[in-house]
Amino acid sequence: MPKDLLIAVTGWDPCPWALRLADALPGRAIVTEPMLDAGEADPRAIAYVLAWKPDPKRLASLPNLEAIFSLGAGVDHILALDDLPDVPVARIVSPDLTARMTEYVVWQTLHHHRRGFAYAASQGRREWRERRQPAAGEVSVGMLGFGTLGQDAGDVLKRLGFDVVGWRRSGEPVEGFEVFGADRLDAFLGRTDILVCLLPLTPDTRGVLDRSLFERLRRDGPLGGPSLVNAGRGGLQVEADILSCLEDGTLKGASLDVFEEEPLPADSPLWEAPNLFVTPHCAAVSDPRALAGLIASNIEAHERGEGLRDLVDLGRGY
Ligand code: NDP
Ligand code: OXD
Repeated sequence: MPKDLLIAVTGWDPCPWALRLADALPGRAIVTEPMLDAGEADPRAIAYVLAWKPDPKRLASLPNLEAIFSLGAGVDHILALDDLPDVPVARIVSPDLTARMTEYVVWQTLHHHRRGFAYAASQGRREWRERRQPAAGEVSVGMLGFGTLGQDAGDVLKRLGFDVVGWRRSGEPVEGFEVFGADRLDAFLGRTDILVCLLPLTPDTRGVLDRSLFERLRRDGPLGGPSLVNAGRGGLQVEADILSCLEDGTLKGASLDVFEEEPLPADSPLWEAPNLFVTPHCAAVSDPRALAGLIASNIEAHERGEGLRDLVDLGRGY
């Protein structure tokens, strides 16, 4: 009997996923939550859940679950759930998603490097004023989180000439880069002009982006002060500290794609913070056209007894 799949998403339309998965896994029931709610599908037949911010009660109601697939690269939205079923969790590791993140990181790094805020302000004043422009090689970009996404973005930034360094828990070397382990955070920060955060949100990383960390970034770099780019998770950042550091110049600029509360509330002071560029958690979207086939082939490998790819280490939290 083919095993059924449930698409359990909050804030996303399940239909494009259902259509793509039906193509990728012919002959198998692809179930959406409204179908379950209407009694049109049997929860006992569901072996796999594809999830983005799933309702915890939903997962707990599936007695024959074999695996959960995060529809994003991050899994904090699943691992934080109470009563998480005791099954493996896989995540997205895909060239499509990685390339999208690299575009975002390069876009924002160049914005800070090429003084995008200063030129936008000049334009607002109709002011023709050139700023000193350091070469990329004079500027150090520190990748806080140097895994799948951090390394790919780091590669492209390096090809643009930036001095790229990485910080990762294991400290494992990456050819062509200076890599700092978890115990060498200060040395890493002291080297960094533009800090790019691509960490997962775990109990160890929550709130890491705070004033004390920003104060340890390089202050005498060629851009006149450090900048922050965070596309990891909002829970990594202390937003009151980012705001006050932008106001008092501890940070020269920031780009945030993720927030403690999403959507960012309309009355958040971050909307009007000086030199802050806000995007609505869209740095690297999960595109069903690129990802449904990947998840389908992972399920097929599992059913052939080859094991699941891209598994999350539940103890580590990422
Ligand atoms: P990876 O697991 O490949 O990389 C995570 C990196 O963080 C690794 O280098 C890891 O170290 C490091 N790390 C984890 N915990 C710690 C710690 N306590 N101290 C130091 N380093 C640590 O994940 P990805 O690169 O694929 O994704 C990163 C994150 O990006 C996701 O978890 C998600 O939150 C976010 N994301 C955001 C998107 C968006 O649109 N804004 C889209 C996609 C992802 P080590 O290498 O030693 O294991
Ligand atoms: C992800 C995300 O984790 O979109 O992939 O944030």
